[in-house]
Amino acid sequence: AEVKRYQFDIQVKNVSRLCHAKPIVTVNGMFPGPTIYVREGDRLLINVTNHAQYNMSIHWHGLKQYRNGWADGPAYITQCPVQTGRSYTYDFNVTGQRGTLWWHAHIFWLRATVYGDIVIMPKQGTAYPFPQPDFEFNLLLGEWWNDDVEDVVKQGNKLGLPPKMSDAHTINGKPGPLFPCSEKHTYAIEVGSGKTYLLRIVNAALNDELFFAVAGHNMTVVEIDAVYTKPFSTDAILIAPGQTTNVLVQANQVPGRYFMAALPFMDAPLSIDNKTATAILQYKNIPNTVIPSLPQLPALNDTAFALSYNAKLRSLNSPRFPANLPLKVDRRLFYTIGLGINPCPTCQNGTQLTASLNNITFVMPQVGLLQAHYFSLKGVFTTDFPDQPPTPFNYTGAPLTANLQTTQSKHPRLSKIAFNSTVELVLQDTNLLSVESHPFHLHGYNFFVVGTGVGNFDPKKDPAKFNLVDPPERNTVGVPTGGWTAIRFRADNPGVWFMHCHLELHTGWGLKTAFVVEDGPGPEYSILPPPKDLPPC
Ligand code: C2O
Repeated sequence: AEVKRYQFDIQVKNVSRLCHAKPIVTVNGMFPGPTIYVREGDRLLINVTNHAQYNMSIHWHGLKQYRNGWADGPAYITQCPVQTGRSYTYDFNVTGQRGTLWWHAHIFWLRATVYGDIVIMPKQGTAYPFPQPDFEFNLLLGEWWNDDVEDVVKQGNKLGLPPKMSDAHTINGKPGPLFPCSEKHTYAIEVGSGKTYLLRIVNAALNDELFFAVAGHNMTVVEIDAVYTKPFSTDAILIAPGQTTNVLVQANQVPGRYFMAALPFMDAPLSIDNKTATAILQYKNIPNTVIPSLPQLPALNDTAFALSYNAKLRSLNSPRFPANLPLKVDRRLFYTIGLGINPCPTCQNGTQLTASLNNITFVMPQVGLLQAHYFSLKGVFTTDFPDQPPTPFNYTGAPLTANLQTTQSKHPRLSKIAFNSTVELVLQDTNLLSVESHPFHLHGYNFFVVGTGVGNFDPKKDPAKFNLVDPPERNTVGVPTGGWTAIRFRADNPGVWFMHCHLELHTGWGLKTAFVVEDGPGPEYSILPPPKDLPPC
């Protein structure tokens, strides 16, 4: 194992897209930011120095950070932000994981421009469990606003409404030629006939689940969220914000130029966004004048495709990569996901949109929750988050106005979990305001997606249909529109771990909570002491 060092300088830089130039927050002046290459078993030391007039905090999305939440990054959950002129070194081991993950700013909406890839190579001398590709490419899917993102969000908050949608989707920061002034902002890869390519695809978009396809070429899905899957072939993938997907593509078509394209998946009735980002897959020796063809993508609201695609995802569960799925459950949790409306004296209409779990809208604390837990600081949070919603109702039936207004407490309410206990959590979408798909991300863990369905979860009938053999293992799961998803994990990582909808819009409205996982027996199962340079509040 090696020690790998990276220097991340947070700087503001002028970048132009879609005929608009604006200053954006970057790492090392790059957009998207630098890729971290590391090998399973290595230690990473990433020094973040903040030269910008924004508070900063960086999350290593999907890295488990065993006993080491200090390196996890979500602002006010595991650390206070790195202030202007300050530095913090994220120091962590990459153990028991290999594959594609990513990093992003975890404060406000700054991840709009502050994000990059993490490629974890398998241990030296260890092959992939699929045919060795000839080459690899990274594709980061993102979003671009012509206006300053902070202004966009502030404007939305003032009105108490969703802020303006992004102006483009992007692939490696580039929207591609279907957008104005974007001919030169087009990402392209060159391929050789007969060769096999591994595409490491990350959805870094703030608010959109995306379909992705390559014209004329099938993809073989081999990994999701840095966990190998049973390979299957598909002409399109679905990827939610936070998720990663590795696919193999064979350059086995007529040599030419082919578009790779990303289009939102939106099956909620309220929103429509059909801006397609494109990049080019180009065979060697084909002139740039050849017009590429577009892939067939599922329709914007193709729920059937989404459900059947997700149903194909299975853990490899091989002797080398067993699925360590908890078969016995110690603790059962049921959380409703709701969008609601709360009074807002400072908003133009006197109300604002909110979001909640079990009708509770999360309030951000002023100090890091992990510090508060580690040092037993009083009055920062309580551990009385309910295991069940306050009033069971027909979640996906007619909206219940009684539940529209959510509860906001003075302090965050968290759920306390005993060390090493096994947890089953059912996330249930509700029709309070409108049903919508929500990509839920848990920090500090992977979980198994044992079941999913449309309508109301039925505790009597649905568990019998759970996949307890080879359920997909991941860190972010899409809870279907007007449906539910059941996940399981073993709480063997002590700390305070954030869980939230990875749609930035919903996170901002309070669709988040955290688990306090207690220390285990003895120091080797307890939270590590905090690093000396942990940022103060
Ligand atoms: Cu990728 Cu808490 O987020």
